[in-house]
Amino acid sequence: SPSSRVSLTVNGTRRTVTVDNRTSLLDLLREHLGLTGSKKGCNAGACGACTVLVDGHRVNSCLTLAVRLEGAEVTTVEGLADGDRLHPLQQAFIDEDAFQCGYCTPGQIVSGVGCIQEGHTGSPEEIREWMSGNICRCGCYVKIVRAVEQTAG
Ligand code: FES
Repeated sequence: SPSSRVSLTVNGTRRTVTVDNRTSLLDLLREHLGLTGSKKGCNAGACGACTVLVDGHRVNSCLTLAVRLEGAEVTTVEGLADGDRLHPLQQAFIDEDAFQCGYCTPGQIVSGVGCIQEGHTGSPEEIREWMSGNICRCGCYVKIVRAVEQTAG
């Protein structure tokens, strides 16, 4: 089937790859670039485990076609830390014990960073609403919202 070349920036590094035109951003990240932090839960836009930032906006990478991202800036969970220093929201997830199995955690954290950057942190209810696309099967929502709230200050 047809394939295309696409150049995009992932976590600050310019990458050029040739992919099948049907390849999702999630598969591009996981299978072509070896960035497996973004998780494949439902692969259908319903769970948020695959959440990444594209040009600063949260997207479900399983629903985003890689070939549409020419020139885009993508940030994944691997791109949040500053060297050995965790992103403040990553540290807050540890401090608040905001996970159990951890499968949804990368998507929760990227979504939380987006939520903070977009300014949707006025109250726990607002955070919860703006992160409602990120499902946690272990039910850690209260602690997740607290971690986002504390990081937002
Ligand atoms: Fe993309 Fe579930 S894997 S939303």
